[in-house]
Parts: sequence; structure tokens; C-alpha cells
Amino acid sequence: MQISDYIRDVQDFPKEGIIFKDITPLLGDKTAFAKAEEILYTLVPEVAIDVVVGIEARGFFYGPLLAKRLNAGFVPVRKPNKLPYTTIKKEYDLEYGTDVLEMHSDAIKPGDKVLLHDDVLATGGTAAAVAAMIEELGGEVVQCNFIIELDFLNGRSKLPGKHVAAAITY
Ligand code: PRP
Repeated sequence: MQISDYIRDVQDFPKEGIIFKDITPLLGDKTAFAKAEEILYTLVPEVAIDVVVGIEARGFFYGPLLAKRLNAGFVPVRKPNKLPYTTIKKEYDLEYGTDVLEMHSDAIKPGDKVLLHDDVLATGGTAAAVAAMIEELGGEVVQCNFIIELDFLNGRSKLPGKHVAAAITY
């Protein structure tokens, strides 16, 4: 069984011309769900990770599972005005326009070794913004870890010098 068998292409979602990689079949199958966790965990370098940072919303499925496996904490990065305490913010470019992500200002301690996790690396704008926030708080991004990398969008170019790993590459 390959976990890629459980990624469903959805045409024209969220808008026309986009082929969306839907991970819900993977999440919904007990064997595939567990296998993906194992693969994501195996990708992580053998470094003591203090914190896993997961990005809303689909970074919240495996982020906490990886944190548990790595004996690390979990930090959510959220869309604007969702986090209750003091936040730092980062604006990033979308295909058209910009968006903002936030994290709590005390979520990372200086020197923390951080695993950044999300479901998809596409253009890389999201992950780059989050990596910048982690570094602003004094954390070290040990790896940017994804279920899926869309290699043709060259998201890695937005993460220079970072270790990037993905369970599935298209
Ligand atoms: C998707 C995906 C990543 C991001 C990747 O999130 O889950 O977070 O886009 O794109 P990029 O590499 O081009 O920046 P989305 O904005 O759809 O948010 P959601 O997970 O809350 O639906």
C-alpha cells in the first residue's frame, strides 16, 4: 500500500484551474493514516526537537501526532484574530493579494529546536512566513516537514538553507 493512493485530486477546487490535493481519504483510512504518520516521523532528523509548529488548518492533523512521537510540544499557527494571547504576525503573498498568519509571542523560546509541519508545500509562501516568525522568536527551524510537496511550484526556493522533506512529491 502506498499513501499516495489515498490522495485524491479534486478538479477546480477551491477555484477553476486548480487541482486540489485532498488528504481526507488518507486521514479516513486507518492503515494509511498510521502509515503516513510513520513516514513523516521517519523523515525527521535525529535531533532533539523542542516544539512542532503546525499551520492552520491541515497542519493540525499530523503536527500534534509528530509532537507526541518526538516528545515535543505543539504550537498552532493560526489565521488572524483566532489566537487569544499576544501574537506576532507575518504577512505573506498569495497568488492574488496577501494573507496573514499569527502565533503566540511566547510560543517559542530562544534556542528552541523547531519542526515546522504542514500538509502541503506549494509556492512556499506560507512555510516561509512561519519560518520567519519562528526565527524572529529565536527558534531554529530544524526541518520543514510536509505530507505533500508540489515540486513544480518550487516552494523550496522560498526556504533557502532550510531542510525540506515531504512524504509524497508531485
Ligand atoms: C494550504 C496548505 C498550506 C498552504 C500551502 O493552506 O494547507 O498551508 O496552502 O501553500 P503555499 O506553499 O503556496 O503557501 P490554505 O491556505 O488552503 O489553508 P487551510 O489549510 O486552512 O485550508
